[in-house]
Amino acid sequence: MIGVFDSGLGGLSVLAHIAEALPTADLTYLADTAHLPYGSKPDEFIRGRVLTIGKYFAEHGCRLIVVACNTATAAAVQALREQHPDIPVVGVEPGVKPAAASSRTGRIAVLTTESTARSAGLMRLIRSHANHVAVHIEACPGWATRIETLHLDEASFAAEVAEKILPLLDSGVDRLVLGCTHYSFLTPLLGTLVAGRAELVDVAAAVAQQVVRSIGNQANDSGRLNLLASAQPERLHAALPALGLARLLPRVNGLALLAQV
Ligand code: DGL
Repeated sequence: MIGVFDSGLGGLSVLAHIAEALPTADLTYLADTAHLPYGSKPDEFIRGRVLTIGKYFAEHGCRLIVVACNTATAAAVQALREQHPDIPVVGVEPGVKPAAASSRTGRIAVLTTESTARSAGLMRLIRSHANHVAVHIEACPGWATRIETLHLDEASFAAEVAEKILPLLDSGVDRLVLGCTHYSFLTPLLGTLVAGRAELVDVAAAVAQQVVRSIGNQANDSGRLNLLASAQPERLHAALPALGLARLLPRVNGLALLAQV
C-alpha cells in the first residue's frame, strides 16, 4: 500500500495523479482534518502530526509514504525519513525550480501557507534554483481552510484572491507557483485571473512521477483506495466529485474515521 497524507483535501490533487499513474496500486489517503490547517501551526506541532501519521502508515504495511503537503514536507520530511529509514518517503516542495527556469520576466511568486513561507526548506530551494530571478513569497492565510469548505466560486473569496494576485502580475511576475497542495483546486479561478500574463506552476504531476520512480514496478495490488480522516471522513468522500475527482470514486474501497491517530 502507498500511504498519502495531507492536513485535509489538498493532497487529493497529488493523489489523483498517483492513482492515474499507478492504476493497480493500493492507495490509502489520510486527511488529518482534526488538525487542519497545518499552515498556521508551529513547526513542532506539525512535526508531531507527521511522525504520528508516519507511524500509523508503517504499522499498516505501507511501503511508500507521500507527504502530499508542502507545509508538512518543509517542517518534517527529514524527521519522517529518520524515523522510517526503510520506507521511501516522497515529499512535495513548491515548484520554484521550473518556475525560475521558465520565467521570461525574471520575476516569480510562490503562494504558500504561513508556515512554508518562513521555512528553511523554501529558502534553500530559492538559493539553489532561483538565484537569477526575483522571488516574491506570498503567504495566503486562510486559503486552505476556505478550500476545505468547497465553496470555491463565492464572489468574496474570488475578490480576496484577486486582491493578492493582481498586484503580483502588475509587478511583472510571470510564473505563479502553487506552493500548497490545496491551491491546485484554485486552478480554474487563478487560471482566469492570470490568463495571458502568467503561468501557474503546479508540481502534483511531477510528484506522481517521482512516486512511480520510487515504487518501481512493485505496485501490482488491486487498485483499491481507502479514505481515512481524523475527523468527518464522509466529507472526504463527498469532496471527490465536488473537486472534479469523481473518477476516483470507483476505486474507493473504504471510508473510516481514524480518531486515534
Ligand atoms: N495542503 C497543505 C500544503 O500543501 C497545507 C494546508 C494547511 O495549511 O493545512 O501546504
